[in-house]
Amino acid sequence: MELFEEVKNVKIREYLLHQQLNRFYISVLYRKALESKAEVLLELGVEEGVSTIALLSACSLIEKAHLWSVDLAPCLGAKTKISELGLESFWTFTQIDDLEYAKTWNKPIDFLFVDTSHEFAHTKKEIERYSPYIRKGGVIFFHDINRHGVARPIYDCFGANPKDWTYETILKPDLVRPYPEYGLGVLKRD
Ligand SMILES: C[S@@+](CC[C@H](N)C(=O)[O-])C[C@H]1O[C@@H](n2cnc3c(N)ncnc32)[C@H](O)[C@@H]1O
Repeated sequence: MELFEEVKNVKIREYLLHQQLNRFYISVLYRKALESKAEVLLELGVEEGVSTIALLSACSLIEKAHLWSVDLAPCLGAKTKISELGLESFWTFTQIDDLEYAKTWNKPIDFLFVDTSHEFAHTKKEIERYSPYIRKGGVIFFHDINRHGVARPIYDCFGANPKDWTYETILKPDLVRPYPEYGLGVLKRD
């Protein structure tokens, strides 16, 4: 199977293929979102919008799917690129601290992607605030699981054998390569 093979829009496919050369995790995120047929997706941490565009590309192929994203920064580059690629109808962006945003959030989540501060106390609060909204069968993806600030809160919140959740490392961190991969982990609500 070719990467992003379902994406027929040439501009979007070229963008994704180019980006995944040094951010392989985006092709994994895209595929997982597409396969899960997630309708409610939430992304914490946008920056230049690379993961956002991967998730939006999946949304564009799933009936009724929509991605909500938040970031402390205005993410102007991401906004411009998303509108250039014609993906804005699948996206709602809010510039806000994600812990503040959690106070207003009220929807069951199918697919949550966490990629913000990678700091222990903050990541722990993200898990505590958002995990109650993950529906059965829903998932929380974490980027940068090589970081103590990401891996440890997963363990702290759910323990070695989490009840009602299953943890899996989807992409192992591999720092010894030209473009290091910091790893993707997923918690699935059983
Ligand atoms: C690693 S970048 C995100 C990269 C993006 N997910 C990707 O893969 O292309 C982290 C982003 O998280 C944002 N961030 C950090 N702390 C945050 C917080 N408390 N609330 C919302 N966004 C935050 C930063 O502003 C930054 O843009």
